Amino acid sequence: MVIRLPFFRKKRKKLERIELDNTPEHIAIIMDGNGRWAKKKGLPRIAGHKEGMTVVQKIVRSAVKYDVKVLTLYAFSTENWKRPKPEVDFLMRLPKEFSHIYLPEMMENNVRIDTIGDFDSLPTHTKKAINHAKEKTKNNDGLLLNFALNYGGRYDIIQGMKKTLKQIENGELSVEDVDEEIISNNLFTAGINDPDLLIRTSGEERLSNFLLWQLAYTELSFTDVLWPDFNEELFKKAILDYKKRKRRYGGI
Ligand code: FPP
Repeated sequence: MVIRLPFFRKKRKKLERIELDNTPEHIAIIMDGNGRWAKKKGLPRIAGHKEGMTVVQKIVRSAVKYDVKVLTLYAFSTENWKRPKPEVDFLMRLPKEFSHIYLPEMMENNVRIDTIGDFDSLPTHTKKAINHAKEKTKNNDGLLLNFALNYGGRYDIIQGMKKTLKQIENGELSVEDVDEEIISNNLFTAGINDPDLLIRTSGEERLSNFLLWQLAYTELSFTDVLWPDFNEELFKKAILDYKKRKRRYGGI
């Protein structure tokens, strides 16, 4: 029975590809609006984050279905520590909860979990949960589910600059060698192509210190829908809109 499963999975994927070939390979999402969603319902803000977590799983499923290669989700920024402690504590517990509920499905869907950001400064229990998920999924070669956790675009550039300067100091590089490829390879996203599409929910139209270097030529998609109300249909719509765009990268 174990032998039959990949056969069925392949067949289903092929059907979806007919409609959605040429999909963006790397989609980044700013999952905004959890707090407002909860407020509208008279619930505490953390209820919005909890609901937001279930939407993460739904969008992962859709990303697998549409053959997206990398999904980078802004889960916690370097600035989010300014929030009230109970909210921060709740957010820091979500990776464990997410793993507990969804890791079996991640395995079934061949999803690999990774993170970008200042990992060492996370609470020990958060790091433990994430390391467990990374370890469990490390040999999966389907969708890369990349959580930006304690991530800031400026912090990313600073740490990338420091690595580059160290390479110069050690004599591995000369100042003249420094180019876009070297900087890219020293960022948290080393080895991952830049996002093709950025989606931001909740009606805000700004980058909020997300992937500042990597988004240089990314197509942007904004929706007024709050993250807990985001769904497969809206995700598909963003992908279809992207497919209509002409990317020129500064050329004509
Ligand atoms: C922004 O909305 C959202 C966040 C800071 C947290 C996003 C986290 C999730 C969706 C869950 C992630 C799941 C895992 C497994 C890590 P906001 O709180 O700023 O909303 P508001 O602007 O309406 O206040």
